[in-house]
Amino acid sequence: MCGIIGYVGKSSPKEILIEGLKSLEYRGYDSAGVALKNDKEVQIIKSVGKISNLEEKMNKESLIDSNLGIAHTRWATHGKPTEENAHPHQIGNITLVHNGIIENADELRKQLMVEGIIFNSDTDTEVAAALINKYYESNPIEAINKAIKEINGSYALGVLFKDSDKLYTTRKDSPLIVGIGEEENFIASDIAAIINYTNKYILLEEGEIAEITKDSITVTKNNKEIKKEILTTNMEADAKDKCGYDHYMLKEIMEEPIVLEKTFKPYLDNLNLLPDLTKYEEIHIVACGSAMYAGLIGSSLLEEYANTKVDVEVASEYRYKNVIYNRKTLVILISQSGETADTIAAMRKAKENNIDTLAIVNVKTSTIARESDQQIFIEAGPEIAVATTKAYILQAGILSLLAYKTAKDKKLVNDDKVVEEAKMLPRLLKEVLDRREDYLKIAKEIYNKEDMFFIGRKIDYAISMEGSLKLKEVSYIHSEAYQAGELKHGTISLIEEGLPVFAIITDEAIKDKTISNIEEVKSRGAKTIVVSNEEYEEQTLQITVPKISPFFQSILIVPTLQLIAYEVAKLRNCDIDKPKNLAKSVTVE
Ligand code: AGP
Repeated sequence: MCGIIGYVGKSSPKEILIEGLKSLEYRGYDSAGVALKNDKEVQIIKSVGKISNLEEKMNKESLIDSNLGIAHTRWATHGKPTEENAHPHQIGNITLVHNGIIENADELRKQLMVEGIIFNSDTDTEVAAALINKYYESNPIEAINKAIKEINGSYALGVLFKDSDKLYTTRKDSPLIVGIGEEENFIASDIAAIINYTNKYILLEEGEIAEITKDSITVTKNNKEIKKEILTTNMEADAKDKCGYDHYMLKEIMEEPIVLEKTFKPYLDNLNLLPDLTKYEEIHIVACGSAMYAGLIGSSLLEEYANTKVDVEVASEYRYKNVIYNRKTLVILISQSGETADTIAAMRKAKENNIDTLAIVNVKTSTIARESDQQIFIEAGPEIAVATTKAYILQAGILSLLAYKTAKDKKLVNDDKVVEEAKMLPRLLKEVLDRREDYLKIAKEIYNKEDMFFIGRKIDYAISMEGSLKLKEVSYIHSEAYQAGELKHGTISLIEEGLPVFAIITDEAIKDKTISNIEEVKSRGAKTIVVSNEEYEEQTLQITVPKISPFFQSILIVPTLQLIAYEVAKLRNCDIDKPKNLAKSVTVE
């Protein structure tokens, strides 16, 4: 997703803007640009590709003296990733950057062209600049107010006006914060971009406009000034550093025992801090990607042990389907960023139907965190790598605890050993993670393959889904997760000599069934890798983790697949933290 950073203050903006963009790289982008402004001119420099290309261009130009600037990384939606389409965009008196999608851009563009506007790009962003320019005479706030009333869709805007030394910003459905410094203030898509300068910020609500100087931040809505609460993040500046690891992905996997213990602690001390699900007749778990796969872990356990009816749905489908709610439905939204457009839409759909919503979310100030009825916060800390690892583990972990608590509330289990085992999880997980050689050995066996499968039954199929996605995301190897029993109904035709098939086996009741599925593919030449909680002598390639309560077994299995995916990607020299085409938070649909 696009990244925005803006600055007004005592310093020259160049370094702050470039370092800020680098902190936003994980959001995914394909071009970048900067606008510097002083009382005489606006200097715009843009480039395609990495931020280093932009830096190179800036170093070749003589930059104007300035204390005001905006910068942007663009993840192309409207228009190809070209320099013309890169932000910032300038029309007339207006220079701006934008994150989001203006859904009525074509209609507005046509109207503005009739009024004589000439566009230089294919972007919806340039339409926003033209609209603000159309209404700008001498009052920036009035011009922005009039323009956003005509815009449908999502936006976070950073705006400069030719004859003003102030920075303006407004947002709707796209994340943006206003950072508060000493004789300097900032705007940013997330706090990580400015954490080296301040940990204080304010959040704008829809329709609010901030007028920012180095010493003041004035927020208005419909021309009425609004007093905003100053928030403080507990993120440490070093949270953005790799702390000696080669990649953020590896750092974040190795953090899993620590963040698991931190997230679990209050609930293991008092399970009743978790919501009571027994009052609901059915539960919809709605999310995207890995978050949805964590939902599959939760649904497997809720159905198996708490006898609760659960539907797990992809948010991009759920938001448009005819959902049949009954009064006692609970919709659980799972989201690391809390800004995924499809998941936000699913949440709002449930709320429009007066259905209770529960969010399992990492970013406490996110839209999903703020608009859901109830929240369970995972304490993953900032997750910088695009491929989620620690956040997924915490999502699955919280859902596992929730399933256990619900089963207990329904008096379907009364095994307090489960809580004791949950307390052992961080230590056991650390032991699993430390066996890096085992995962490298498997990676060396498969890194030069171009296709592979992950198979499993019931919760093991849910685990397979995440194992397969993790591998695809970071190594670009085509992979498919399949129900082990389903493979023989067609797809087994793809099995050939040496094709890797991961078999996940943790469900005691049906392990023999999956073993026979392994034999089916092995007899057709597959290279089988068993990932389980017990040894299988006849298996040459195997990863075995300690056996633990079925409620938490996935928490020891998935990290092995995360590390295998990491090692494979490393052997293939992939861009592990910023895989091609991917964005960390998909804030557009
Ligand atoms: C990143 O590794 C994930 N693969 C991606 O699918 C992510 O889980 C999905 O985009 C949802 O993001 P969210 O958790 O921030 O809503």
